Amino acid sequence: MTPRLAVLASGSGSNFQAILDARRDGRLEAVVAVLVASKPGIGAIVRAEAAGIPVEIPDQADSLAAVLKRVAPDRIILAGWLRRIPSELVEAYAGRILNIHPALLPKYGGAGMYGRHVHEAVILAGETISGCTVHEVTEAYDEGPILGQATVPVHPDDTPETLAARVLAEEHSLYPSIIQRHLHGR
Ligand code: GRF
Repeated sequence: MTPRLAVLASGSGSNFQAILDARRDGRLEAVVAVLVASKPGIGAIVRAEAAGIPVEIPDQADSLAAVLKRVAPDRIILAGWLRRIPSELVEAYAGRILNIHPALLPKYGGAGMYGRHVHEAVILAGETISGCTVHEVTEAYDEGPILGQATVPVHPDDTPETLAARVLAEEHSLYPSIIQRHLHGR
């Protein structure tokens, strides 16, 4: 059976789109069973609707756990998900929750290291190389086993925005390829 993915997103969903594109092109053998959005009105929902993917927005009455129980995905794919995953879920899906982080972990991860803050810190530290990391999600948020990384140069005149754009382009090819490998071993 083709493995099923639940993709969780809180923002524009460009990584979600990259997953949909990889699936369409045959680079990713998986069914995107659901987009779980953290709130209404985000870009990822527009992309899901355009692709005919069901959207779920968990709330108090219908928790993330309940949504996932219904969908029963083989992997949970965090694609810019800014909420905490409850410990029970991390435990229940151990080794089957993947995240992408816009830096070369173990550096520039952990509390407060998301979005623009990551790239600001990288530039401030004078790094000449940055990149992105796909890892398994464990209780210690950005510290799970690393599954793959891609690097980009940091230019002397980079702003957090220019660096973010360069990293994001790499994320879009890295994430689908690592998901494919995690699912199928190739
Ligand atoms: C990406 O930079 C990803 O590394 C981080 O959140 C961002 C999501 O961007 N976890 P998008 O919503 O996929 O465009």
